[in-house]
Amino acid sequence: MSSYLPGTDMTRFIRELMEFVALSDDDIEAIRRTAPVVLAHEDAFTRALYDHFLKFEATARFFLGDDGRPDAAKLERRRHSLARWLRETAEVATTQEFSYYLLAVGLSHSHRADSRGGVVPPHFVVGAMSLAQTALARLFRETLGDAGRALEASQAWNKLLLVHLSVLLLGYVPPARP
Ligand code: HEM
Repeated sequence: MSSYLPGTDMTRFIRELMEFVALSDDDIEAIRRTAPVVLAHEDAFTRALYDHFLKFEATARFFLGDDGRPDAAKLERRRHSLARWLRETAEVATTQEFSYYLLAVGLSHSHRADSRGGVVPPHFVVGAMSLAQTALARLFRETLGDAGRALEASQAWNKLLLVHLSVLLLGYVPPARP
């Protein structure tokens, strides 16, 4: 791995990190094989995540309307965006288009200030990825009917989710200069 500035070549950044976390062909196969299970529960997954965000004042404020109550339309839009990310994640896309989509998602948290909530604090993005990992591990345990396969799927998804997390954090963390 040679040095370069992350953000200048997102496809390479993602490819290198996938290599670093040892996301193997078997992992990619496990993710694609379990994608139908994940996508069948997409609605419950996105609902659970946003219900969780609404439980805490610090995260709920991003989803409230002017009357201070949860804004159903805003929540629906956010759930829709999250579902798109989940679908694209399940495909393990590594194209240039996907890489910059992911960077744009990150920047919308780190740079696009919301009138009520401000910029999304990075520790909640990290926390949300932990919630996603936990939800998927539970789903695999409950649906795959085999502890070994559930573990294999969780490990593979965990690797990929943390590669994504690194991209989502790029807008917060100034890249170290080579
Ligand atoms: C697993 C972590 C997360 C993922 C994968 C994720 C995914 C997304 C996606 C795909 C979008 C749409 C981006 C766009 O269209 O440009 C979005 C927007 C947004 N997300 Fe997240 N999100 C995560 C965590 C969070 C957290 C923790 C919060 C706040 C508590 C949050 C609040 C928002 C808000 C307010 C927007 C709208 C930003 C704007 O004004 O455009 N997200 N998110």
